[in-house]
Amino acid sequence: MSPYGSVFRDETKLDINYVPHKLPHRDAELHLLKEFFSFILKTPSKMTQRVIITGKVGAGKTVLSQRFGADITREAGKHGINLRYAHVNCREYRGSLFLILHHVVSVFHPNFPRRGYSAEELLRILLQILDEENAYVILALDEFESLVEREGSDAVYKLTRVHEARQDKPQRLSFVCILRNLKITERLDASTRSTLQSNIINLDGYSKRQLKDILDDRVFLAFKPSTVPEDTVDSTAELAFAQGGNARFGIELLWRAGKYADAEDLGTVIPECVRKAVSSVYPLMRKSELATLSLHEKLLLLGIARFFKESQNAYVSLAEAEKAYAVACEEFSAQPHGHTQLWKHLQMLSAFGIVETKVSAAGSRGRSTLISLPRISAYELEKELCALLGHTKT
Ligand SMILES: Nc1ncnc2c1ncn2[C@@H]1O[C@H](COP(=O)(O)OP(=O)(O)OP(=O)(O)O)[C@@H](O)[C@H]1O
Ligand SMILES: [Mg+2]
Repeated sequence: MSPYGSVFRDETKLDINYVPHKLPHRDAELHLLKEFFSFILKTPSKMTQRVIITGKVGAGKTVLSQRFGADITREAGKHGINLRYAHVNCREYRGSLFLILHHVVSVFHPNFPRRGYSAEELLRILLQILDEENAYVILALDEFESLVEREGSDAVYKLTRVHEARQDKPQRLSFVCILRNLKITERLDASTRSTLQSNIINLDGYSKRQLKDILDDRVFLAFKPSTVPEDTVDSTAELAFAQGGNARFGIELLWRAGKYADAEDLGTVIPECVRKAVSSVYPLMRKSELATLSLHEKLLLLGIARFFKESQNAYVSLAEAEKAYAVACEEFSAQPHGHTQLWKHLQMLSAFGIVETKVSAAGSRGRSTLISLPRISAYELEKELCALLGHTKT
């Protein structure tokens, strides 16, 4: 029997999808966002709005928009207005306008068929549904970069100008575009850019003090009383600050530190647990190292990360990794390297400690190389690599 029991009261409060009721140090931004959309509570059909939220990794862009969405829908409900907030991560829909719109349509008609329509038709159908139901939508396009990458200026133009063709009808569709860096908007045509850029909310990375407040709130929600000493929160805030004021990093570290405390049945999350947690995310910490990889090493790693994102397996064979690499090459318009060269890239990734390789026992098709990703989340790795690759591309 463990003498202490778990340090956690409710781990779900540390989950990346959890949207807290209070967002310390984002009051002003939340207020501004509500200001931009205040017309929705008064004369929703008279206008629409487009807002950009931009800022660094883990600066709270996604959570700010989600908090806003939940608050304003509740508020609209009180005013008898049928408002929906739809939060779509464009990357999860591979940047496809069709898939994104299909998702929004299925908010209203869950079994809406996936075939037989073009993106334009879906957009028209969506507006028709909104007319029929006298509803309004705020569509948050998170990781907006993916949409621009995949569909270019055209799709964004279609979306943001949708009301121009329906002059006398009520306006129904507003947007929040969420992106890390405004640079991608340079790819849009001048008029789309200017329509989007009139309202920009920029989130700076958090200071150490601010991170401490955010972490204190989470400690209160997620951990049992007196299980997390102040020193632990301090050093976690310090580390998250060093990562560019990244609140996600701080929260994840706290969660892992709690896991270490439980594993050793300490009953308290001592600072040593945080140190252990840091070394467990070691490759992630060495982001600069990831940046030094060559283009094809990055593409191979991206292929591997994506394989693990989709699969529950602990290992990927070199052949499967090679396939995923080829897809990544196509996406970033790179000519794939041959097998021998790829093998060398794999050795390099292994030398860096990012992947591990082993040779399988001789099976029906002989021996093969198996690759694992033991120390880093495939999801995070993919995100990091896409950011880096997007960067080298422009
Ligand atoms: N002010 C805040 N108060 C409470 N929690 C916060 C705050 N800001 C961020 N967080 C939390 O930190 C984590 C990261 O925030 P979020 O996902 O919104 O970052 P992001 O800016 O969207 O990052 P990315 O660019 O990587 O998508 C989430 O778990 C979120 O709940
Ligand atoms: Mg986000």
